[in-house]
Amino acid sequence: MNKIISIGIIGGTGSMGRWFNNFFSAAGHKVLVSGRTTDITYTDVAKECNVVVLSVPLTAAVSISKEIGPLMREGQLLMDMCSLKEEIVISMTDNTKADVLGTHPLFGPFTDSIKGQNIVLCPGKGERWLKWIENEYASKGAVLCTMDPLTHDRHMAVVQGLTHFTTICMARTLQKMNMDAGNVLSCSTPVFKINYNLIGRLFAQDLDLYKSLINKNKNFKDVLEVFISAMDEGKNALLSGQDESGTLFMENIREFFKDSCKDALKESNKIISALYS
Ligand SMILES: NC(=O)c1ccc[n+]([C@@H]2O[C@H](COP(=O)([O-])OP(=O)(O)OC[C@H]3O[C@@H](n4cnc5c(N)ncnc54)[C@H](OP(=O)(O)O)[C@@H]3O)[C@@H](O)[C@H]2O)c1
Repeated sequence: MNKIISIGIIGGTGSMGRWFNNFFSAAGHKVLVSGRTTDITYTDVAKECNVVVLSVPLTAAVSISKEIGPLMREGQLLMDMCSLKEEIVISMTDNTKADVLGTHPLFGPFTDSIKGQNIVLCPGKGERWLKWIENEYASKGAVLCTMDPLTHDRHMAVVQGLTHFTTICMARTLQKMNMDAGNVLSCSTPVFKINYNLIGRLFAQDLDLYKSLINKNKNFKDVLEVFISAMDEGKNALLSGQDESGTLFMENIREFFKDSCKDALKESNKIISALYS
């Protein structure tokens, strides 16, 4: 396989597209960017590039895969970066003779380096390009994990769906209690400050993306049911008026997480130190 690969990024005008343009360009590859208003069209990159990357919102990625998939040939790679994998991997696989690979970088566009970052790979079709991308990412220090699209989406219902849902609901709580930065940060603890920053981080970015990570993941409703039942349990155990039931509830949870709590304490201490350095 040639060392220098031509890579066409559809949506390369967007935040992740720009990030991967820099990444692949720094690795010595030739990158073409295509968007709805660029001179280089989707058809150009589908016909000319070894690798075509869909870095657009999920609905657009599915429809573009149907448009350009049939234009691509054996020996090329069609891949995507969408945050949900089932629908797009099926659509790419069904619509092209090219190799197909679903990928999900589990980091955002403000990340300095790929080193240490997780990337999920969902192979669709073909081995050759899979090995190429594994090498491109792993050689720069990314941590790769291969899984099928359904398993990926089930995990993301928790990793992204639940995480962002709880952040949004905590934000709503603060809003209802009129606790904005001006009247709450002066008496915040480090942990509250981190949570407050995570709220701001979400609302400073693309709300449609966060919304889609919750409401386009069909597994999220089940996760939410579990979460609501956990809140009920927590309320009963901690507000029952019997101190012991709160202790038992929390000890039971600690038993599940075991030694990872000590590691998490060390890791979170680093975050707190960085916050004040
Ligand atoms: N942001 C993250 O943290 C993150 C992390 C991992 C994965 N992802 C995934 O990466 C993909 C891109 O996300 P992003 O954050 O880079 O989004 P973005 O900044 O909004 O960029 C996406 C690009 O897609 C194009 N686009 C937008 N709407 C479109 C439509 N309806 N039809 C066709 N093209 C459209 C736009 O390019 P033109 O206007 O030039 O056409 C835009 O620049 C998404 O699938 C997302 O789930 C995002």
